[in-house]
Amino acid sequence: MKKKYIIAIDGPAASGKSTTAKLLAKKLEYVYIDTGVMYRACGLSALKNDVDLENDLELEKMLDKISIRIEYSGKGNKVFLNGEEVSERIRQADITKLSSEIAVIGSVRAKMVELQRKMGDKGGIIMDGRDIGTVVFPNADFKFFMIADVHTRAQRRWKEAQEKGEDLKLEDIENELIWRDKNDSNRKNSPLKQAKDAIPIDTTQMTITDQVEFIYDVIIRG
Ligand code: DC
Repeated sequence: MKKKYIIAIDGPAASGKSTTAKLLAKKLEYVYIDTGVMYRACGLSALKNDVDLENDLELEKMLDKISIRIEYSGKGNKVFLNGEEVSERIRQADITKLSSEIAVIGSVRAKMVELQRKMGDKGGIIMDGRDIGTVVFPNADFKFFMIADVHTRAQRRWKEAQEKGEDLKLEDIENELIWRDKNDSNRKNSPLKQAKDAIPIDTTQMTITDQVEFIYDVIIRG
C-alpha cells in the first residue's frame, strides 16, 4: 500500500470510532486525529474565558487566539489548549455537554474545519468525528459510518468508566447519549449524518478486532 490515504470515520458517540481508529492507525502507521477533542477544547476554552456563546464578538475573539495541539503517541493522543494539557479535563461530563452545544455554532465549526484540513491534507491520516466524510474531507479516499444500538453504546461507556474507577449510572449515560445524538444530528450546520458514499458499519454485535479487521481489509483491497 503506497498511497497515503485520507480515511474518514464518522458516527455517533461511543459507536466504536476512536478505539477502532486508534488501532487502525497503529496498524497502518498513520496519524490518528480525534476531532471530538477539538470541540471539547473549544467548550473548555469558552468556560475558562467566560465566553457567552450567544455573543459572536466574544466567540470570534476566543477563536482568533485559540491554540489546540494534539500530540500523537502510541498510548493515546494528548490534547493541549493554549499550551496547557487538558486531556483529562475535557472528558468530564460538563465539557462533554458543552462540546455538543458549542459544535452547533457556525463560526466554531468553520475554524475547526480549517484546522482539521491543515492537519490531514497530506494524507496518511485517520480522522474521526461527525462531519469528516461530509464536510471536512468530502473527497476522502475511504469513508466509514459507524453506528451501534444506544444501549450497547451506553454499556461500553459504563464499562470504561468502571475501569477508571468512576461510579456512573448506566441510565444517566444512556440519557446523555440520546441527548447528544439528537443535538448533533438536528443542528443546522454540518449535522451528524452518513455521507452518501460512506460504508456503514453496525458495531452492535462486533468486537473491536472485528471492526479493525473489517476496515483494514477494505483499505488493503484499495
Ligand atoms: O467525539 P466526541 O464525543 O468526543 O465529540 C464531542 C462533541 O463534539 C460531539 O457531541 C459533537 C462535536 N463534534 C462535532 O460536532 N463534529 C466533529 N467532527 C466531532 C465532534
